[in-house]
Amino acid sequence: MNIDELEEKLKSADQMQILSAYNRADDDTKKELMNQVERIDFSQVADLYETTKHEVNFNNDVIEAIPYIDKDKLSEEEYSKYLKLGEDEIKAGRYSVVTMAGGQGTRLGHTGPKGTFDIGLDSHKSIFEILIDSLKADSEKYGVTIQWYIMTSKENNADTVAFFEKNNYFGYDKNAIMFFEQGKLPMVDEAGKILINEKGIIKEASDGHGGIFESMKKNGVTDDMNKKGIKWAFVGPVDNVLVKMVDPILLGIMIDQNVPAGGKSTVKANPAEKVGVFCKRNGKPGVVEYTEISKEMAERVDENGELVFGESHINCNMFSVKAIEEVANKKLPYHIAHKKASYIDENGNLVVPEKPNAYKFESFIFDAFDMLDDMAILRVKREEEFAPVKNAEGTDSPETARKLYEDYFKK
Ligand code: UTP
Repeated sequence: MNIDELEEKLKSADQMQILSAYNRADDDTKKELMNQVERIDFSQVADLYETTKHEVNFNNDVIEAIPYIDKDKLSEEEYSKYLKLGEDEIKAGRYSVVTMAGGQGTRLGHTGPKGTFDIGLDSHKSIFEILIDSLKADSEKYGVTIQWYIMTSKENNADTVAFFEKNNYFGYDKNAIMFFEQGKLPMVDEAGKILINEKGIIKEASDGHGGIFESMKKNGVTDDMNKKGIKWAFVGPVDNVLVKMVDPILLGIMIDQNVPAGGKSTVKANPAEKVGVFCKRNGKPGVVEYTEISKEMAERVDENGELVFGESHINCNMFSVKAIEEVANKKLPYHIAHKKASYIDENGNLVVPEKPNAYKFESFIFDAFDMLDDMAILRVKREEEFAPVKNAEGTDSPETARKLYEDYFKK
């Protein structure tokens, strides 16, 4: 792209503030900006900005309960059947783990990737090391080194890789770990103008954990899986220190039910808890967010007195590699987040806003569920598998996660 083409592209996209930034920039920054302008799909950005003007209406969707299996209520016979089906796949090397570690962790406020955070255990292990411990134990148990893919973002990729290098991959086989970066999208202001960041280039932000499917394809992760004969992937978050990444039972159920995906749920603590729950939406698997359901729906109970919409989505899901490839070829919807975002204005001055001034566009992993025919849901115990690290203090904080982790291992 030359300067005339740059100008032309920016003019037709009505994003001339980027040209002003270009004219102010030094040679290296100019190059970087040019690459961004070449890569960015400005009509997509314009379409996304349009969506901020319309309210999303879910009223016509038919939301129903989704069948699930309670792990605790499996008979011995069922348990052994699922265990064998799942374990055979794992032992044959057809199972892998993908960890989503591309988030910004704004609520936690830790500088650096969330996985490098020390939740205050006596050992002072970082979250990444906690995850590695469990992968090591499973690798030993099944006699295979479980392949681990870690999704980072542009902002934290270098720091994440450096952390693993510095710590010698915590004794895990370095060749069994692959990092890949998730996608990003420009942030726009309330008039739809793309923002310029402190470095003088276009301000881009991660495109949400739903971007994982496309990023896996783009970055050769699914190719690597196919080359290695991997058929399944557990996809989970970095910020749950009790995450059970290797789960033969869920895999066994998926194989038994012949479905391409599975998700783990925990029982909603109370009807008002602010979590998304698994459901059937227009006959397909999905997640209904707490903002989407009425009080009546949230409180509805079945004949056993259990919440009809009570299976919380804890972001621990499993997919066949084929399903990942299928979703990667489709477009997930984007959700709008109204955020505070500092930027450089037309005169080259830094603006640090005090209230939300910009839009960020994110896709969510659960929007992929309705692209799949069906999905198995396995209810697990919260105290055994869910210890999230989200906030600096209070609920879902390092303190609560540490307690849950210590209680679990004491038991
Ligand atoms: P959250 O939605 O809780 O976001 O991510 P976060 O970035 O960790 O924290 P806040 O909201 O800024 O405080 C749930 C999981 O999804 C990953 C996170 O790393 C975490 O494991 N994630 C989130 C990504 O990998 N990419 C994203 O763009 C967003």
